[in-house]
Amino acid sequence: MCGIVGYVGSRAATPLLLGGLKRLEYRGYDSAGVAAWQPETLAIRKCVGRLSALEQSLEQQPVAGTLGVGHTRWATHGEPSEVNSHPHTDCSGRIAVVHNGIIENYQELRAELERQGHKFCSQTDTEVIPHLIEAELKVGAASPEEAIRRALRRAKGAYALGVLFHDQPRTLYAARCGSPLIVGVGQGEQFIASDVPAIVDQVRRVIYLNDGEVVALRPEGVSISKLDGTAVEAKIQPVTIAAESVEKAGFETFMLKEIHEQPRILRHLLAQHGWQNGSVAMPDFGLGAPYFRKLNRMMVVACGSAYHTGMYGKLLLENFTSLAVETDLASEFRYRDPKIDPGTLVVAVSQSGETADTLASIRMAKSWGCKVLSICNVPGSTVARESDAVFFTEAGPEIGVAATKSFTAQQMAFALLALFIGRARNEVNEAQAQELLSDLQRVPDAIVYVLERREAVRKVADKHHDGPSSLYLGRRFNYPTALEGALKNKEISYQHAEGYAAGEMKHGPIALINEYLPVICLCTQTRDEVYAKMISNMKEVEARHGRIIALATDGDAAMPGLAEDIIWVPAVRDEFSPLVNVVALQLLAYYAAQARGTDIDKPRNLAKSVTVE
Ligand code: M6R
Repeated sequence: MCGIVGYVGSRAATPLLLGGLKRLEYRGYDSAGVAAWQPETLAIRKCVGRLSALEQSLEQQPVAGTLGVGHTRWATHGEPSEVNSHPHTDCSGRIAVVHNGIIENYQELRAELERQGHKFCSQTDTEVIPHLIEAELKVGAASPEEAIRRALRRAKGAYALGVLFHDQPRTLYAARCGSPLIVGVGQGEQFIASDVPAIVDQVRRVIYLNDGEVVALRPEGVSISKLDGTAVEAKIQPVTIAAESVEKAGFETFMLKEIHEQPRILRHLLAQHGWQNGSVAMPDFGLGAPYFRKLNRMMVVACGSAYHTGMYGKLLLENFTSLAVETDLASEFRYRDPKIDPGTLVVAVSQSGETADTLASIRMAKSWGCKVLSICNVPGSTVARESDAVFFTEAGPEIGVAATKSFTAQQMAFALLALFIGRARNEVNEAQAQELLSDLQRVPDAIVYVLERREAVRKVADKHHDGPSSLYLGRRFNYPTALEGALKNKEISYQHAEGYAAGEMKHGPIALINEYLPVICLCTQTRDEVYAKMISNMKEVEARHGRIIALATDGDAAMPGLAEDIIWVPAVRDEFSPLVNVVALQLLAYYAAQARGTDIDKPRNLAKSVTVE
């Protein structure tokens, strides 16, 4: 969603703003803009489309100044257009605001401000903010900061804001409530940004702002207050990610780099949580082993790909523990009455840690007295901070919009968690746990093998990419894998794709099958009772002349006579096969997208981090 960068210091602001915005491109956007302080005015430049257009406009009409804010907009209220792009200003043009989030009561505020004579030019919700601040200054707010606080006490909804005042040439103001924003602390200069990767090349110290905080940044330091004016002590923390982690490292795209990082990340997680004292080495998350023994139910909530890992996690937890486990989409869960009590552990899964629906679910669960354990990739994110306990997936920044390395890291987290809880409850004995862990250790090498055979996957993608649609079928552990494979395909190649439980085929999707439809059949659980059922489903597709692409285990003699194309993967334990299979499907989607010429790292309409509902 929208990205924000701001700077105050002694260097020229706009190159720093552009640099930061480029690092936020992955969040998704359709227009961009900057504002910078100049002696006579606040200079504003805006452009629809990619940042290169804004860069060109700044080359043609450069803007000097050492104080500024920049923004990438992902349209919610009002089409992508120059007038709707941020920064937005008050009537005088002397207050400029960039915003990420949604001001829910903007219509009411706008009507009131218009009655007072304020002139609006955009269709956005954001534009009420500079006008509200202007109005508060007119009626006697003692300082710009006080005017911001008063304005925000009236705004309902979510926001991360950067604010410039023309009569404050050395101060950048910012505030957050519900949308991410951090402060980057430098030497004689300060930054604001939507996330750490945006400024990782500039600062090594950050402050994670809390909801309801307003900050004034000056070259010499920052001061933070709450909306009621109470001062807050700044908690400065070190940046833990390296600047190189947000570079492509020689790969043509971030997505391809991130696909290739998976074996290393999984090995790291396994090393962190290896065997120790008869169990999986894992802190008890401050919840204590007795908590896990008494637990009676788990509820997993997440969105998108993270929901697919949640579905897989449920199967593993059910397999290795006696717990009743349910998984739900956070956007549905938050409007349900799921009848859960404090005896339920809610597990929230989120790469970014900023997904609005997942956060709302966490808050609901906490209000019911439940403990929340999150599986999250971003330290300092709101999900991580609001959860009682966090399993960090430590996959590093994921820049490609399509989840890849965060997905397999979440799967691994669930596998380790299931073994840990199974041991804590004595439902998995020591010998079983050791065997399962050693089977899990085989997964990274199996993924390396899939990556080494990527050219074979490319050939399959080249042959099948141009149809209008494709169908992904799987069963049991690989039903969520089928959903994820289809999601990967549609989000980066724009080819319509359906993921289905193979057993559901006869209940509808079989009607789609004809001699043109590629049907990707996940048939690797060779020791599982569902293997034979999957073969039957494939025969049903074959009988209707569907084009079968099988994902099969090396050496499976049943496949060559059945499938038109086969993507071979090494054998791993059935329960853990989704971690290997999904990598093959990531590559399949990747090469299909490449053949279809899409913008793989920044697919149209998508945002990496969905911070509004
Ligand atoms: O940051 P989160 O894991 O909470 O994000 C959830 C989804 O928005 C995300 O997984 C999305 O579905 C990805 N684009 C999938 O590739």
